[in-house]
Amino acid sequence: MRPSVLATRATFPDIAVRLRQHFDVEDNPADEIWNRDELVRRLQGKQGVMSTGSERIDAELLDACPQLKAVCNVGVGYNNIDVAACTTRGVLVTNTPDVLTETTADYGFALMMATARRIAESERFVRRGDWRKTGIYDMFAGGDVYGATLGILGMGRIGRAIARRGALGFGMQVIYHNRSRLPADLEDMTGARYVDKATLLRESDHLILVLPYSPDSHHAIGAAELAQMKPQATLTNIARGGIVDDAALAHALRAGTIAAAGLDVFEGEPAIHPDLLAVPNIVLTPHIGSASVKTRHAMAALAIDNLIAALGFGPRAGRPSTPVNLEALGAR
Ligand code: DGY
Repeated sequence: MRPSVLATRATFPDIAVRLRQHFDVEDNPADEIWNRDELVRRLQGKQGVMSTGSERIDAELLDACPQLKAVCNVGVGYNNIDVAACTTRGVLVTNTPDVLTETTADYGFALMMATARRIAESERFVRRGDWRKTGIYDMFAGGDVYGATLGILGMGRIGRAIARRGALGFGMQVIYHNRSRLPADLEDMTGARYVDKATLLRESDHLILVLPYSPDSHHAIGAAELAQMKPQATLTNIARGGIVDDAALAHALRAGTIAAAGLDVFEGEPAIHPDLLAVPNIVLTPHIGSASVKTRHAMAALAIDNLIAALGFGPRAGRPSTPVNLEALGAR
């Protein structure tokens, strides 16, 4: 009998066809958002799920879906999944690293530049029909990017790809802080200098957040951290909602504690803190850091390869290429 799987969100047509070559599939071509009960109901009898950051996979859900053997997340981040709970129940978790690194780094850089140079704010001004005279000396004057100090909090693959862009392409001094310092050869390749968090906050002209979300990184940037930044500095978050205290950030933007922010991720997204919507010096985008067509397709393809392998099919049967908790196999 073929295994049954659930694809929780709409996916590319060729990916859906490929899923059906291996599995009995329940999918979601209309891309509806299922609540928790609906998700549990649809997972009954399923051995695998192609999940996304929108679904919380925790102990309670796993206990309600005892046939589940593989959770293959479309995304490099997997803070929506209780990995320890999966491991003890023998549920293999996979993610999609690498295929999105450069695309997400491009996006982080673009969002930082749009924030520094006030692109969204000035675009809104033009659309409103407020542009009546040219040549005003300080109209939408922002901060320079070329030659400035780029700070990176979290120095994984995406952080390093952003560092290379800053150092090699934009003549920036790149400083970073991370749980652990990079080996010297990687530091040389990225042109980045390790500093403590206080120095990072104090010296960055443009600070980009690229660290994973965990209870340890919850509100890693709050009122106290924002107060240590330069008033001309910008903050860009492409990592995860919850790493920044959004209410404190809105307050800091209103008060001029920092100059501007670019946010692609939010606490409780897709809801957005109303105070963030009310401040002008901010660029807001809907969690699209990895959203080029090619990369989103590559992420879905990797997730499906992982699902096929995790459920014992294909050339990598039993050995998905990007596992998060291979040790789960030992718990089966
Ligand atoms: C990721 O890959 O983690 C992106 O944020 C999409 O969820």
